[in-house]
Amino acid sequence: MMNDYLPVPDRYTNGMVYARCGHSGVMLPKVSLGMWQNFGHDVPFERCREICRYAFDHGITHFDLANNYGPPPGAAEETVGRLMRTDFAPYRDELFISTKAGYVMWPGPYGNWGSRKSLMASIDQSLQRMGLNYVDLFYTHRYDPETPLEETLQAMVDIVRQGKALYLGISRWPLEATRFAIRYLAERDTPAIIYQGRLNMIDRAPEDDGITALCAESGLGFISFSPLAQGLLTDRYLQGIPADSRMAREGSLHADMLTPELLAQLRAWHEEAQAEGRTLAEKALRWVLDHKAVTSVLVGARTVEQLARNLGALR
Ligand SMILES: NC(=O)c1ccc[n+]([C@@H]2O[C@H](COP(=O)([O-])OP(=O)(O)OC[C@H]3O[C@@H](n4cnc5c(N)ncnc54)[C@H](OP(=O)(O)O)[C@@H]3O)[C@@H](O)[C@H]2O)c1
Repeated sequence: MMNDYLPVPDRYTNGMVYARCGHSGVMLPKVSLGMWQNFGHDVPFERCREICRYAFDHGITHFDLANNYGPPPGAAEETVGRLMRTDFAPYRDELFISTKAGYVMWPGPYGNWGSRKSLMASIDQSLQRMGLNYVDLFYTHRYDPETPLEETLQAMVDIVRQGKALYLGISRWPLEATRFAIRYLAERDTPAIIYQGRLNMIDRAPEDDGITALCAESGLGFISFSPLAQGLLTDRYLQGIPADSRMAREGSLHADMLTPELLAQLRAWHEEAQAEGRTLAEKALRWVLDHKAVTSVLVGARTVEQLARNLGALR
């Protein structure tokens, strides 16, 4: 396929804001693009391409992946691999690409959790799928209560030493284990630079659990996943469950989450947002971005229009 993509020249001055990621040298866009859903092989490649081009043209330099994003697992990384070939190879140094390992990925005892065996194989697979020599950021995707923390963390240190990742991150680890990880990685000169957790107007656990405070005091950035609570914090469900919505697809967002109490709260927030001249999605993203520990929000977008509307939060 011919590379006919020419990014717009004003992509760094047309509205994006960048923030330093903790005490690291890295600047991240305030709005980053997550590829958990909407970038698998169930979606036409051209739609993924359109979203990624729009993102890059608007200063979104950070794409977030994991080994198992799809469907099927690995498909989102394959989509990125294809996009690198068709569009983005000349812009590799303008992109900050993350991936993760730790959730179930391939069959058998080595395709899941945090063993050295699993992490070492996973990063090689991810690089191969994406056609990259290195990722910018490699995360432990979740806490593994069975594997010694030192084993998982040392594998991560070694992944950096092997040149397969530039930086390390921690996703969804509990407080004390995170504190241990931060110390372990820093003592080996491969510091964690970021924590990925779910912080949004509905779910404030990282704040309640002390994670955001730990990030701030330890010099880590914080990036919020599902900042729109998978679409709940938009106008999507105010009048029922649309047929093309994530909730209707019955995957990760269950209808029983939409209780009458939550719906009433969403409607109240929607009205507040309208009075402020914003959409609910903009208000929800702004709420996360205004948190002093937060570096960036990781939005999911199924269409260019959704992504465009989410960028309205920066205004
Ligand atoms: N570390 C982890 O364990 C973890 C876990 C989850 C996610 N993540 C990361 O976080 C990223 C984002 O997660 P997420 O997809 O749940 O994020 P999200 O932004 O909270 O939800 C995205 C969904 O909300 C709807 N939406 C988005 N913008 C909209 C708008 N302007 N108006 C109406 N609806 C809108 C769309 O759903 P419809 O399909 O209904 O249109 C879209 O697919 C993931 O891609 C991944 O990178 C990480």
